[in-house]
Amino acid sequence: MTCSDRLVLRRPDDWHVHLRDGPMLEAVLFATARVFARAVVMPNLRPPITTVEAAQRYRQRIKNALTDGLVFTPLMTAYLTDDLDPEELERGFAEGVFAAAKLYPANATTNSAAGVSDLALIAPLLERMEAIDMPLLIHGEVTDPDVDVFDREAVFIERHLIPLRQRHPGLRIVLEHITTEQAVDYVASGDQRLAATITPHHLHLNRNAMFVGGLKSDFYCLPVVKRECHRRALVKAATSGLPCFFLGTDSAPHPRAGKESACGCAGIFNAMHAMESYAAVFDQEGALDRLEAFASEFGPRFYGLPLNTDTIALVRQPQTVPNQLTLPQGLVGELDSGEAPVFFHAGESLAWSVDLAAGD
Ligand code: DOR
Ligand code: ZN
Repeated sequence: MTCSDRLVLRRPDDWHVHLRDGPMLEAVLFATARVFARAVVMPNLRPPITTVEAAQRYRQRIKNALTDGLVFTPLMTAYLTDDLDPEELERGFAEGVFAAAKLYPANATTNSAAGVSDLALIAPLLERMEAIDMPLLIHGEVTDPDVDVFDREAVFIERHLIPLRQRHPGLRIVLEHITTEQAVDYVASGDQRLAATITPHHLHLNRNAMFVGGLKSDFYCLPVVKRECHRRALVKAATSGLPCFFLGTDSAPHPRAGKESACGCAGIFNAMHAMESYAAVFDQEGALDRLEAFASEFGPRFYGLPLNTDTIALVRQPQTVPNQLTLPQGLVGELDSGEAPVFFHAGESLAWSVDLAAGD
């Protein structure tokens, strides 16, 4: 095996993940925690995480679900609502419970009904976050029914994000799971307080994926995947070496029954092969030497957290991703097979494999 077949990386973190709760949490946590040292955990549970106590309890449930001595730190987020008290937010941040707060425009995506109905209503929250330097994580899509679904991110930037950053120039912002050339250009032209996460699926898929050969709900997520020119822009951004673009999988498991229903759920569960998936893209671009910074350095630097000191290895060892999810401790926790989450790259071949034992 040559050097180019084995890549040792500082252990990565996932700056955007949905770990869910209950049996689903128990089924999917391993996929994230085996590779990633830390992850920013989204708060869109039912009910959403809107208090310090709820975040502490959720964090404890995540820790309790860790198996086999896995070492993993969940970084908790607060779910912003129209009437959340700035004191609660500040207390959670000061106590090290909330790493950030998540802005879901009301009804933009899964479990976002309790999200923010009008940005003007949360001005006091944003002012407080700006004052205490608490990161704001944004699901950047308008919910205006007159705006085409494929344009919702670009319109959000024009209508809401540009004015918001003018009103709060000191606010540290992550535009999550970006999907368009417009988002890439906007973030790249920003200052050090603006960054974006990029998912594996938005790097691999264009919007044809949802329709070619039949309707493929497996590839439906929000923001929805866009035209090929946007996918190319994302690949260029992720592999650019610019510190404003870093890893966030947006891994979002849903049971098959939820994906394949009259009103299918948005979300792609990619945690199982996330690093292999990113490696495929960086390899194709001849940019494997930039994967470590994207996966393991730019995120912690933006959040002001220390870099991990342990390592993982990626080896050029092809693997066929199984169709059925199996985990070392059994099938999928307490879920029966109908509830098992649909996962990204199932049935495909991937050129790289994570080799945890070979990290050091
Ligand atoms: O595709 C998505 N799924 N996008 C989101 O914003 C939420 C997520 C989920 O929670 O399922
Ligand atoms: Zn998400």
